[in-house]
Amino acid sequence: MKGTFLEIFIDYVQQTYGEETALLARLNCGLKRVISTQNYPREIFSRYLQEVKRLTGSNEAHILYNFGRSFLFTPTFQKVYHAYLYQSNLKDFILALNGIHRRFSQGASEDDKSYFTIVCEDEDKIVLRFSLSMHLCLFIKGLLESAADIFDEKVHIYKHKCNKRDNETCEIVIAYK
Ligand code: HEM
Repeated sequence: MKGTFLEIFIDYVQQTYGEETALLARLNCGLKRVISTQNYPREIFSRYLQEVKRLTGSNEAHILYNFGRSFLFTPTFQKVYHAYLYQSNLKDFILALNGIHRRFSQGASEDDKSYFTIVCEDEDKIVLRFSLSMHLCLFIKGLLESAADIFDEKVHIYKHKCNKRDNETCEIVIAYK
């Protein structure tokens, strides 16, 4: 996993829980600093998440959902990656997701790649299917909801299939109201 993802998560923790918590969680994970272009094992993200849970007393679902909601507004995203939002609508933004992530995965090991299957069932419904080694459905739901707000589109986003086990297929539906 590229350092960018961790960097944005640490940004979110800093914004939400303060600098001290973000720093303490990072040091407890043995991370001196995070370099955006470097590849990190996924376990580092999970370990950092566990530390944040422990230090703040928040539950995992709450942290992940709110991380998703805040992702596009974190200082790192706004400063470095804002151009990825230059799409005309939510559907185009969703269709661009695989391209965005493929760019970041270049140079990562083969099993470090994870892509979405995007199915536009009809004009009113997009289905996002994915199998990830981490349980990130709520993060994805939060992120897509905030993107819908940015594009000023009224959608209902819900988990259709959610497998708690790693690498099993989950499905999120984006239904236009
Ligand atoms: C819009 C700009 C976005 C940028 C710049 C971005 C960037 C990244 C980066 C750098 C990673 C780490 C990739 C790797 O090296 O393996 C990542 C992972 C991820 N992103 Fe995004 N992302 C964006 C949007 C989104 C959106 C909208 C979603 C939700 C639908 C999303 C869902 C995820 C998930 C679930 C992962 C972790 C996947 C895994 O287990 O590797 N991202 N993203």
